[in-house]
Amino acid sequence: MIKTKFYTFLAITLLCVQTVKAQSLPAYLDETKDIEVRVEDALKRMTLDEKIRVIHAQSKFSSAGVPRLGFPDFWTDDGPHGVRPDVLWDEWEQAGQTNDSCVAFPALTCLAATWNPQLSLIYGESLGEEALYRGKNMILGPGVNIYRTPLNGRNFEYMGEDPYLASRMVVPYIQGLQSKGVAACVKHYALNNDEEYRHQVNVIVSDRALHEIYLPAFKAAITEGKAWGIMGAYNLYKNQHNCHNAILINKILKQDWQFDGVVVSDWGGTHDTDEAVKNGLDLEFGTWTDGLTMGATNAYDNYYLANAYKRLIKEGKYTTKELDDKVRRVLRLFYCTTMNRQRPHGFLCSESHYEAARKIAEEGIVLLKNDGGSVLPININKVKNILVVGENAVKMMTVGGGSSSLKVQREVSPLDGLRARLRGIAEVDYARGYVGDVTGAYNGVTTGQDLSESRSEDELIAEAVEKAKKADYVIVFGGLNKSDYQDCEGHDRKDYALPYAQNKLVEALAQVNTRLVFVNISGNAVAMPWIKKVPAVIQGWFIGSEAGNALASVLVGDANPSGKLPFSWMQSLDHYGAHALGAYPGTWRSDGKIIDEEYKEDIFVGYRWADQHKLTPLFPFGHGLSYTTFEYGKAKIEACDASLQSTVSNAANQSADNPLYKVRLTLRNTGARSGAETVQLYIRDVKSSVVRPVKELKDFRKVVLEPGETREVEFSITRQQLSFYDDVRGEWIAEPGKFEAWIGSSASDIKSKVPFVLR
Ligand code: BGC
Repeated sequence: MIKTKFYTFLAITLLCVQTVKAQSLPAYLDETKDIEVRVEDALKRMTLDEKIRVIHAQSKFSSAGVPRLGFPDFWTDDGPHGVRPDVLWDEWEQAGQTNDSCVAFPALTCLAATWNPQLSLIYGESLGEEALYRGKNMILGPGVNIYRTPLNGRNFEYMGEDPYLASRMVVPYIQGLQSKGVAACVKHYALNNDEEYRHQVNVIVSDRALHEIYLPAFKAAITEGKAWGIMGAYNLYKNQHNCHNAILINKILKQDWQFDGVVVSDWGGTHDTDEAVKNGLDLEFGTWTDGLTMGATNAYDNYYLANAYKRLIKEGKYTTKELDDKVRRVLRLFYCTTMNRQRPHGFLCSESHYEAARKIAEEGIVLLKNDGGSVLPININKVKNILVVGENAVKMMTVGGGSSSLKVQREVSPLDGLRARLRGIAEVDYARGYVGDVTGAYNGVTTGQDLSESRSEDELIAEAVEKAKKADYVIVFGGLNKSDYQDCEGHDRKDYALPYAQNKLVEALAQVNTRLVFVNISGNAVAMPWIKKVPAVIQGWFIGSEAGNALASVLVGDANPSGKLPFSWMQSLDHYGAHALGAYPGTWRSDGKIIDEEYKEDIFVGYRWADQHKLTPLFPFGHGLSYTTFEYGKAKIEACDASLQSTVSNAANQSADNPLYKVRLTLRNTGARSGAETVQLYIRDVKSSVVRPVKELKDFRKVVLEPGETREVEFSITRQQLSFYDDVRGEWIAEPGKFEAWIGSSASDIKSKVPFVLR
């Protein structure tokens, strides 16, 4: 009894203390209050100077908080494959920290190639933990610009050619990252589909292509992923820079998608105070010290959203209406990140992050070709000696490529990975084969590798050929690298060919050894003129810290490959719409300042173009082989109740996501290994008032099956999946009529088709 009374007394006392405490807390600090209430309270307390200070940079990667009110500085960092090493406060030089090495996760092309949204979530979570440890509040990524041309130097940072695949893969990355209290900053919004002249390109594109191809992944990132940040792109759209573009930001992003987060400028992407004020830019960052030219005192005061803006407010040109909107957004960001007390503690370079990196890499590696299923995996019971050839077998790939460059705690090279896996099983010899780029430095981070080579091209090939004659297997690691004009920010590739005499090397090796495997390390497709002579080809991407381990496990069959291409790998450059139509890189205006790039291929990007022009890709979108085999049962379709109603009543009563039909099929693993297959659902609109692609990806399922196991795969068909963007009405329309559901193992390998009708 006494005990009960005591506890009641204690509880009441605690409650009183808490109530008094809560009452004494100003609303903006009171965590029990709704964020919007806190934002308004903080806003009300801020001076003009404080407001101006939080909307532009104060260093290369940070912006100010509001110290007087207890809001800490806000720190961003690249992104998107790991947490970039620290640079000096005011300069691009390395800060020289010893605790800023990280785990490099696979590049986003590889993540997209997993077709596994669950891995995207793990990617975001792991990266978020690394960012937290490093004190970063926002990661500059992920990137979802569409793969329009294989020359784009930054394709490796993006998620391929298909808006649906990119949408499904980007959302969990954001959710995982932000679950740790670290903001995503989705980039580069929008139409930044090549690097060459990225500051001067003015994109001309139809509304339909904009909405059907280039915007859906951004839209999903905002409306489903609920990203707290988005980065404006360098280029222009309708003659206005995208960091302060009225249509893209005010109309589409903030009005139509109801984005309530922060629009961040790309570094140095702001060009005009008036436009920045009115057209929705919320937070300005810069490349040069003052955002304009080099080195001024109090440089950041010279930013477009700094003193210039403050002066115009004081002179009465603007009220604080726009400013308050920007500050509200920044404050919301603070409450989700720096002011979020529920954030967990981060950790760096943990084994769980390496494991995540390795799993994503193993699932993203694509087995493109494996003649008769007989070359790979390497039979470790028989193999005695393997010859590894090529610079990419040894070259570190995490350094370089532009802003996504990293300083890693470790990176396992393909050669080391194979040697480790085959220790005690087989001899692994190495021949250089070709020389690419021997430098290994980016922005002050150096690989420390000495790749210098004095032998001639012919001598290197001769050595490789001699060794290849005696090898059980020859594995060439070639492709591109992260040097300028390859897979690298700032420029595009100059052509589609493999660089550095690699073709000559491969042709020579093919003549002396039939067990030849080419592993292409890149973020882009390349021409393979020798494809018929090489029995096995793997797409190995840039896969980060665990590269060598992941490639070795796929090569020897510890991991059964299940990656599928997130873009069409065409035979030649003119098989891409942008190039076939001469619609890249655009035409300079007579003033020499702007280059107009008209996306003449319109919605026909990637497989949409290949289908329309009946082109056979070298490797189609969605293609990827396995060491096991799968048998697809015939697809069957069944109407749901909603499908029986007319479109008119559908539109009135139902959401566009209501299932109208269910498509079902069985999938069986007919081989001897456990493996995963990604079943793809494409929709064909048989007759339409507008020209539509032959088919479009609308859903997919990655299914893991044990040998002999069968599973049913089910898809729902909704009105949204049948719609096109009507650019006259400015909305998505599903026209009644005949459609078909196509089930495929890739865009070119369609297993069955079932017709249905939209009433
Ligand atoms: C890149 C961005 C990057 C930023 C900061 C820019 O040049 O385009 O993607 O986040 O620099 O490094």
